[in-house]
Amino acid sequence: MKKITVVGGGNVGATAAQRIAEKQLAEEVVLVDVVEGMPQGKALDMWESGPVESFDTKVIGTNDYEATAGSDVVVITAGLPRKPGMSRDDLLAKNFEIVETVTKNVAAKSPDSILVIVSNPLDVMAYAAYKASGFPKERVVGMAGILDTARFRNFIAQELDVSMKDVQALVLGGHGDSMVPLVRYSTVAGIPIADLIPQDRVDAIVERARKGGGEIVALLKTGSAYYAPSAAAVEMVDAIAKNRKRVLPCAAYLEGEYGVNGVYVGVPVKLGAKGIEQIIELKLNDEELAALKKSADGVAENIGKLKI
Ligand code: NAI
Ligand code: 2OP
Repeated sequence: MKKITVVGGGNVGATAAQRIAEKQLAEEVVLVDVVEGMPQGKALDMWESGPVESFDTKVIGTNDYEATAGSDVVVITAGLPRKPGMSRDDLLAKNFEIVETVTKNVAAKSPDSILVIVSNPLDVMAYAAYKASGFPKERVVGMAGILDTARFRNFIAQELDVSMKDVQALVLGGHGDSMVPLVRYSTVAGIPIADLIPQDRVDAIVERARKGGGEIVALLKTGSAYYAPSAAAVEMVDAIAKNRKRVLPCAAYLEGEYGVNGVYVGVPVKLGAKGIEQIIELKLNDEELAALKKSADGVAENIGKLKI
């Protein structure tokens, strides 16, 4: 892959750019921010770690979209993060303005790119980017499910004192406290977690995963999580860059799948060089389907508050 752009040189964006460079997922990584000098400084600093970390990916920082032209993938992290006491939805109006502007700039310079949206509230921002770009739905995908699932997997591994490598799990729905961790599809080396963990502990782990973002905000006090979020976004970039056809929970535009229409919400997708190559429809039970529908209704309600 030739060029990957990351818009927003803050905590998530800069860490994502660093991970992309260290994994050499492209020949060039471009970091864009509105703050003058900051993306240039971070990018140069990052690039100077190349000899030590053994990567040849060029890292460029800029305030100008010209340098992003012809990007294959663009990760959008621009926007405000949460502060203690704020919900992701409190970011709605301001981040919509930012994401809409950024997307238009990016789409004009990289009309064939795949957009990976990270800014919050995630599902609504993915929808905003889909509309502002005019790209087909396959090329606009939101990051949340991998992060939410990673937190859930981590807590399961901690509970059982087993390797995280052996824990598979699935979290669907919007990236909010109404997300839907699917206990039935969560396993340790193929063994359902319900066979390994008592129900009250499973419930506690589900609750902690749902509120995982807030737990970090409360600890950091000045912003929100970024190590796990950047790792999750870069797992998506890797799937696209290497055409891995990974099956990953991502926010996708649904048109009837799971009975949901016209919104972005987290579902399992096949992610490869063309973006979302398939939306995988699971046979959810009534309770799971109702939870997913409730979560999607929340996203639709927030979309309704914006002039899109
Ligand atoms: P941050 O405040 O560290 O960085 C945001 C950056 O965006 C700042 O450097 C700011 O100057 C820049 N920015 C603002 N307006 C811009 C514009 N018009 N063009 C270019 N850059 C612009 O915040 P952080 O922690 O990096 O989070 C970024 C976003 O990602 C937030 O909205 C946050 O809520 C979201 N997020 C989403 C996650 C998810 O699971 N989807 C996980 C973690 C964060
Ligand atoms: C998180 O879940 C803030 O959405 C971000 O950490």
